[in-house]
Amino acid sequence: MKKFVCIVTATAVLALLSGLASAYEVPKELVIKRPEKTPQQSSWVGSVKFPHGFHAVYNPCKACHHEESDRSLGQFLPCTQCHIKPGLDEPTGFFRAFHNSSPTSCLGCHKQKRLTKQAMPPISCTRGCHKKQ
Ligand code: HEC
Ligand code: HEC
Ligand code: HEC
Repeated sequence: MKKFVCIVTATAVLALLSGLASAYEVPKELVIKRPEKTPQQSSWVGSVKFPHGFHAVYNPCKACHHEESDRSLGQFLPCTQCHIKPGLDEPTGFFRAFHNSSPTSCLGCHKQKRLTKQAMPPISCTRGCHKKQ
């Protein structure tokens, strides 16, 4: 009986997962590009190759696509639709979305994971994310 319940649960979970998989597109690899109007901070700051699929396996979508992104039930907007302003201190600026200390940002989450010893994601500017082309 117990085994049967397990199988039924597993089938339900699988059905749910495949349902989700077909409902949303989950890009595997992305290149995050600086918006045209945002000045380049330094000559070494190039575009960032982002292993999106890898992150989506270990983190819920909402860890990054915070409520502003999927308000309309499962619509996943690019961050740069809103975070486009130039300037390092703008809360809705391009820079802060990826570097501020909150766990929604790349650097914020990476630092927290290291601090809590959960994982060792990269935090080096040029070796981690802005790799020399
Ligand atoms: C670790 C952070 C993170 C996680 C987790 C994450 N995403 Fe993303 N996602 C991003 C970033 C960053 C972008 C690129 C946005 C940009 O280029 O402005 C993106 C882009 C996308 C895009 C493309 C949007 C477009 O139109 O260009 C889709 C679709 C998407 N994500 C869906 C998902 C789904 C579905 C999940 C969960 C299964 C998920 N994401 C989990 C950070 C994440
Ligand atoms: C529909 C618009 C919209 C989208 C899309 C969006 N954001 Fe945001 N985000 C905002 C707004 C507005 C705020 C400021 C909220 C506030 O003032 O508390 C914000 C705040 C943030 C903050 C905190 C910034 C700070 O300095 O306190 C981070 C980090 C962040 N977003 C990251 C992301 C990432 C990463 C993505 C894409 C995966 C994303 N956002 C997509 C609108 C958006
Ligand atoms: C919610 C937390 C979180 C956010 C947000 C996040 N990451 Fe990560 N990232 C991780 C973790 C955890 C790892 C895996 C570390 C490990 O296994 O050692 C990782 C690994 C990576 C790696 C190394 C991949 C590899 O093959 O070793 C890169 C590059 C990376 N992240 C870039 C980014 C970028 C760019 C963003 C923002 C667009 C981002 N991350 C946002 C948690 C996060």
